[in-house]
Amino acid sequence: MKREMMFKLNGEAVNVEVESAWTLLYLLREILELTGTKLGCGYGECGACTVIMDGQAVNACLVPVLEAEGKNVTTIEGLVQPDGQLHPLQRTFIDHGAVQCGFCTPGMIMSAKALLDENQSPTDEEIKESIAGNLCRCTGYVKIIEAVKAASGR
Ligand code: FES
Ligand code: FES
Repeated sequence: MKREMMFKLNGEAVNVEVESAWTLLYLLREILELTGTKLGCGYGECGACTVIMDGQAVNACLVPVLEAEGKNVTTIEGLVQPDGQLHPLQRTFIDHGAVQCGFCTPGMIMSAKALLDENQSPTDEEIKESIAGNLCRCTGYVKIIEAVKAASGR
């Protein structure tokens, strides 16, 4: 049975009908058509579906949709400024060649953003820890860590 749910998505209040069996990822991708957040494994192993919910990086494939009720959710689409300017992390990922196929990139960036929102000068270890749940099959991680470091403090 469907019911109404309200939450804040990328700074805008959203009122939407949901099924309690849905995940947050299903709502974002299939109903709201925000496909920047990726479906990888679907069971919490790859981090491709990472979004920020009330300041915490979460795997949207594991979040029952009703847990997002009343919360503040940010997806990769929410990082671009209204004038089209990229977020510093998006810029440094491009500049440092930290994107290859790009499948992991939205999740990586959201995990890194959650870190930088809390800690503007993270150590390499803290960066590694923040993206430990995000798998990349392409870049070998070095460029990703460089990109996060370059974005810190910006
Ligand atoms: S799709 Fe959510 S962790 Fe892999
Ligand atoms: S860039 Fe391809 S999975 Fe990370």
